[in-house]
Amino acid sequence: MTNLAQIRQMMPVTEAKAYLNTGTCGPMSTVLRQSLDESLAYDFEHGRATGDGFAKMMDSMTDIRARIGRMVNADPSTIALTQHTTNGMNIALFGLNWQAGDELVTTTVEHEGGLVPAFILRQRYGVIIRMVDITATDTDVEIVTKIEAAITPRTRALLVSHVAWNLGNRLPLGEIAAVCRRHHVLSIVDAAQSFAAIPLDLPALGVDAYAMPGQKWLCGPEGTGALYIRTESLSLFNMSFAGFFSLKTPMDWDFTGHFMPAPGAKRFEVGSIYRPLMHATAANLRWFEEEVGWEWIYGRIAALSTYVYEQLQTIPQVEMVTRAPAESGLNSFYLTGYDTARVVAKLAEENIVIRFLGHPYCLRVSTGFYNSEADIDKLIATLRHITTLAPEELPEFVSPFK
Ligand SMILES: Cc1ncc(COP(=O)(O)O)c(C=O)c1O
Repeated sequence: MTNLAQIRQMMPVTEAKAYLNTGTCGPMSTVLRQSLDESLAYDFEHGRATGDGFAKMMDSMTDIRARIGRMVNADPSTIALTQHTTNGMNIALFGLNWQAGDELVTTTVEHEGGLVPAFILRQRYGVIIRMVDITATDTDVEIVTKIEAAITPRTRALLVSHVAWNLGNRLPLGEIAAVCRRHHVLSIVDAAQSFAAIPLDLPALGVDAYAMPGQKWLCGPEGTGALYIRTESLSLFNMSFAGFFSLKTPMDWDFTGHFMPAPGAKRFEVGSIYRPLMHATAANLRWFEEEVGWEWIYGRIAALSTYVYEQLQTIPQVEMVTRAPAESGLNSFYLTGYDTARVVAKLAEENIVIRFLGHPYCLRVSTGFYNSEADIDKLIATLRHITTLAPEELPEFVSPFK
């Protein structure tokens, strides 16, 4: 199915608004809604712990691991189901037996979902954090050189994003992972803005851990995500949290302390999960893979990203942050002379949804496969109109954080 009109009908928010904020949360589809409704009704009416409800959930979980495995060209045994990107990064970061004076290299384009766990490592274990300053205009070679320069014999791991959530730039992950391997450093990747947005071959990239969200480019429910752990690196990541779901089978433990973890990344799964989330995630993945088509999705995201990049540059007051078009589905920019948060508020009044960021304090547009060129034209026309207004005419942004 590459019929955009039909896809947009199935994602109603895309018809109600110019929804350009998938980097935060993707639009939900009728496939997702129907599955959530059906499984909630089933559990409500038939009871959760009755009949084959549990077996069905396990089937959905197996299906999700297999489908995500195909998306990233990896065996399903490398995939653990998590609650979000942050969850995956925490599992990986806390999986090392850190000693005081060990070093973690990370960068200034990371999200707090990865950085705050790193700061806890510093607080709890005396880990030294080496921060690599990545700027918007750095070339791939410069990025790799800076990361390699920060590695010392005490470096145990690198925490790095595949796509920088603030700049929209795609980092040269294959080269970065190769540098890590050369120095015996584990690569732990924040995939919040790359998973389901760009084609992925994780074994070829050679990363050790790759933490993915469900709610962004995959357009799934919040509370879903996945963590890839390279088979060869599995034994290097210890289990910090464990439970029923971490075991090979429910019988694989006794009171002497014997237990048998699941042979693959599934060992990082812990306890009960909301069943409708699993069914809806499986249904959603099926729709993406079998009906919409990944190749078309990735191509469309890249084409729209290029279109936004080009169109934004027709506005004289726009200063791009993103270094080049179509490295991801994100484009960041400043509207010179206008307060960034107020621009977001004004666009919201016009039914256009984008977001602003803090570091740098800029605007960010996300383009999903369901967006239309008309969504982008509307954004551009409205930004152009904003440049005819006095800055104080824009509405104040009301923060949800009290
Ligand atoms: C790069 C990056 N990392 C992590 C996160 C946090 O995502 P999650 O809520 O899936 O943990 C986000 C969300 O905006 C992000 O953009």
